[in-house]
Amino acid sequence: MKLLLESAKGNLVSTTPIWLMRQAGRYLPEYQEVREKVSFLEACQNPEIAATISLQPWKRFGFDGVIVFSDIMIPAQAMGVEMTFNPGPIIKKPLRFMKDLVKLEMFDPQDKTSFVLDALKILKNEISQETTLIGFCGAPFTVASYLIEGKHSDDFSVVKKMIHDEPLFLHLLLDKLTFVMTRYLKAQIESGADIVQLFDTHVSWLTEEEYLQFAFPYEKRIVDEIKKSVPIILFTKETKNFLNGIRQMEAPIVSVDANTSLLDARASLGNSIVLQGNLNPEILRSGTKEDIEKETKNILNQMSEQKHIFNLGHGVLPNTPVENVSYLVDVVRNYATRCRSH
Ligand code: CP3
Repeated sequence: MKLLLESAKGNLVSTTPIWLMRQAGRYLPEYQEVREKVSFLEACQNPEIAATISLQPWKRFGFDGVIVFSDIMIPAQAMGVEMTFNPGPIIKKPLRFMKDLVKLEMFDPQDKTSFVLDALKILKNEISQETTLIGFCGAPFTVASYLIEGKHSDDFSVVKKMIHDEPLFLHLLLDKLTFVMTRYLKAQIESGADIVQLFDTHVSWLTEEEYLQFAFPYEKRIVDEIKKSVPIILFTKETKNFLNGIRQMEAPIVSVDANTSLLDARASLGNSIVLQGNLNPEILRSGTKEDIEKETKNILNQMSEQKHIFNLGHGVLPNTPVENVSYLVDVVRNYATRCRSH
């Protein structure tokens, strides 16, 4: 039985599944070893290398899920946008004008992102019957914010200005991305993904009203289409600001960030939804074993009524000690079963 998949479907399971966002990456020495030889993009574009990296955390920690190694900007590259990574995405010519949108290619995933699909097929063969294969994409708003801003920004001022001055441009871009991402996720599902996650990280600096206009409708289009075939997880940062909207989304699984209380999310979203989260990644990086144990048990106690997938509130941070991640997995494995048998 796939514990994570069953739990994602809302079925009763004997213990809490665990996987971590960004579980593959720079905190792992075996990842760094691969990256000494190839660039980040080369690693993403080579299915064997991408599969090897995806499996590294699973082999080391025995997570319930394996997420395909890639990036949210890969489909944008397939649309013809040139970019480099250092370490985050840097767009060569940020999109600012209507003429930039016309050039965007509504690519065929089998053609332009075959390396992601091939990596999933390799992974499907390599993982055990008990392991859930996770596909993902960036949500339209988060991908659009990189495409417009050009790189990570602390205030996303260009996008903010666009929201007020040129909402039509933004809506047209979001519409195109929604079409592309839906087709991209479907291709990942056809290639073996058991569940998928939609990353909408950058809604964190939107007001609730802006979220409802520029993020929610596009997230919902993707969620509605994908949930017909597999469970889909919606991740937003600063989840607490958007709970009213998210309630109307009817996403099967919502990933809650560390600034949001899981109990508040449960109260707001109801008992049928599956919640994922929400250990603070900073505690995993710099906390003592006692801190990690205390916070983890607190989360498991709050969610002991089930419908919970253990994860962080955001991705694993660089320089997170590997032994802290092992310790976290031990605590979840040992404590969650006890919690649920009471
Ligand atoms: O979770 C996993 O293990 C799968 C792989 C994955 C990566 N990026 C690998 C990566 C996933 C799911 C992502 C999603 C992603 N990428 C998001 C959404 C989630 C989030 O963290 O908010 C965002 C906003 C991006 C954009 C991006 N790509 C950033 C900001 C960075 C640099 C920061 C960082 O964490 O290193 C990247 C590059 C990137 N994507 C790296 C990895 C392992 C580092 C590349 C390297 O230097 O080796």
